[in-house]
Amino acid sequence: MKQNTALIQEIQKLKKEKDAVLFAHYYVADEIQEIADCIGDSYFLSQEATKVKNKTIVVCGVTFMGESAKLLNPEKTVLVPSMEADCPMAHMVEIDKILDVRKQYEDVAVVCYINSTAEIKAHSDVCVTSANALKIVENLPNKNIFFIPDENLGRYVASKVKNKNFIFNDGYCHVHRDITVDEVMKAREEHPNCKVLMHPECTPPLLELADYIGSTSGIIRFASENEDQEFIIVTEEGILYELKKTCQAKTFYTVSKNQICPAMKQITLEKVKHILETNDNEIVLSNELMQQSNIPLEKMLLLAK
Ligand code: 13P
Ligand code: SF4
Repeated sequence: MKQNTALIQEIQKLKKEKDAVLFAHYYVADEIQEIADCIGDSYFLSQEATKVKNKTIVVCGVTFMGESAKLLNPEKTVLVPSMEADCPMAHMVEIDKILDVRKQYEDVAVVCYINSTAEIKAHSDVCVTSANALKIVENLPNKNIFFIPDENLGRYVASKVKNKNFIFNDGYCHVHRDITVDEVMKAREEHPNCKVLMHPECTPPLLELADYIGSTSGIIRFASENEDQEFIIVTEEGILYELKKTCQAKTFYTVSKNQICPAMKQITLEKVKHILETNDNEIVLSNELMQQSNIPLEKMLLLAK
């Protein structure tokens, strides 16, 4: 604990010296969320990235979040504490597959979940996050939607948008995919009066068991506004930090010991301090890639308003 206090003091000092601001996603470790200047879901963090006045943005989350901050604010120095904090789903679509689908369907909109590399975004028409995917897809003029890389979020959106033809890709989040129906049923039996709040990266059979489906910020909003006092949480456990902070009198249960994203957990106080000292792990993208991949991201911010 004492060690953490010293580390935190050094981080605060370095932040001032470097004119840096610290962004954190709800899935990173508690001690990182504790010192962050801005905590949020992927959508909120990308919106906030466009408003930053500081010279440097430290993105405590997975690398695609760092890339998005850079794309939306190219003049800034964007640092990520760990290059190993790489979301596997962000790579789960082949560029050739996108090109093939484009050839096959003339009017297709390639809708790209923000959990994707800058290169994949560069081949897409519009980005979405789990907080705005439904609204954006509903309002696209295109009949055919190629949803990449996440099949589960794609199928969830398709289940709500009936007048379009969806083409799916087989990407997935292993953390959400590995949560089982049995685990959720068992939690329901143990806490029969609890509502089940779930992230749409869960598989379709799991989503059928949910009382509420939404992004991390959606889950937090639902839990704080709902009159119930106890909830079952089916997403990464890092969200509990914010849930307990915003809903201090309420109780939250998880369904499995494995609701942990190894990529998000790469972010440590030591690594935050290290990159502030060294400027290591700066996000650098070529001008051409930045120009191309910024288009769908900016389009998302416009359409989600
Ligand atoms: P949110 O957009 O809901 O914050 O989710 C990000 C993520 O990585 C989910 O696995
Ligand atoms: Fe990627 Fe899943 Fe981790 Fe989110 S929880 S960053 S989708 S691996």
